[in-house]
Amino acid sequence: MSSPPQPTNLAIFSTKPYDRASLTRTHSTLSPALRDSITLTFHDFPVSEETAPLARGAHAVCVFVNDTLSPPVLQSLHSAGVRAVLLRCAGYNNVDLATAESLGLFVARVPAYAPEAVAEFAVALVLAVNRKTHRAYNRVREGNFSLDGLMGHTMRGKTVGVVGTGKIGVAFARIMQGFGCRLLAYDPFPVEGFRELGGEYRPLEEVLKESDYVSLHCPLTDETERVINEQTLGMMKKGAVLVNTSRGGLVDTKSVIAALKSKHLGGLALDVYDGEGAIFYQDRSTEIIQDDELMRLMTFPNVVVCGHQAFFTEEALTEIAECTLRNLEDFMNRVPCPNSLVREGHLLVRRESLPVRI
Ligand code: NAI
Repeated sequence: MSSPPQPTNLAIFSTKPYDRASLTRTHSTLSPALRDSITLTFHDFPVSEETAPLARGAHAVCVFVNDTLSPPVLQSLHSAGVRAVLLRCAGYNNVDLATAESLGLFVARVPAYAPEAVAEFAVALVLAVNRKTHRAYNRVREGNFSLDGLMGHTMRGKTVGVVGTGKIGVAFARIMQGFGCRLLAYDPFPVEGFRELGGEYRPLEEVLKESDYVSLHCPLTDETERVINEQTLGMMKKGAVLVNTSRGGLVDTKSVIAALKSKHLGGLALDVYDGEGAIFYQDRSTEIIQDDELMRLMTFPNVVVCGHQAFFTEEALTEIAECTLRNLEDFMNRVPCPNSLVREGHLLVRRESLPVRI
């Protein structure tokens, strides 16, 4: 007979009511022995150098996109007795994996929780900027039914450039193929799934030069940090639209503002923003927001900014909760976890895809 699972406390940071609901619901569906061995403690604040000691007594922590697991935070968690870090997200640019490796921590992520959810949102952003639905929505509410300034472009026959053809990039390309678009992509690790859609791989410069719409779906690494900058924006077709649902650090905000002002960039849609950690996921409507670049971006009529919500579907939240608890179970049982990034002091991801310094 197998021994009962060891009691395990999981401290869950940066939680919102919807996170609590999905994790509590999923926890209640575990086998009785497993369920009774896992205690969930929810914190509504992020993990940081100040809050990491509050994880004392927890064996594992669960964190989200804007929790920064820098070397001091990881060291503090380790000193508090934490041995596992479970990411409720796919991207892992916010974790210093080298430090986690040296501390012997287990780190796992949720690699694909409905890639279609993110891809569909990227398409929604392409269409909003192109057909100006964000402006039309406000206009008709004020009784203004004029069409002046709302003209867009038919998508069929346009060239769409995909930077990063992983799970989300390919899902995005599949939808754009359905629109009758020509597909180009840049990815140092090409996949058949993109070619099967009729897509062609090209060097980044050519993708930028030829595309009417460019959508970013690569991770944030040392190599991709500020991949969209003054030089690469200059390579883009005049009037092209840029969409970023991946990570804010891929885009140099100052350069993008300059490209919008000069009208070289025809439109921009962001679901992620470089300084989002200090702003997103909170109601700031009664505050004076201090980030002048974000506020400038929001003044352009051809810019749509959303608060990192591309993942936010019921299906994705369920998958995040289920996968997080499966990852925890693998950690508890000391069995290989398909989603681990670091296990038993070994880094399991390619060195070249390591996160940027944090
Ligand atoms: P994935 O790991 O399946 O695909 C990433 C792709 O980027 C891979 O094909 C990889 O080879 C490629 N890549 C690596 N370096 C590159 C470079 N220098 N240039 C171009 N491509 C490069 O990841 P997935 O699931 O498709 O997610 C992509 C990104 O989307 C994540 O890293 C994450 O940052 C972001 N994301 C955003 C969400 C949101 O709510 N806005 C939700 C989930 C993910």
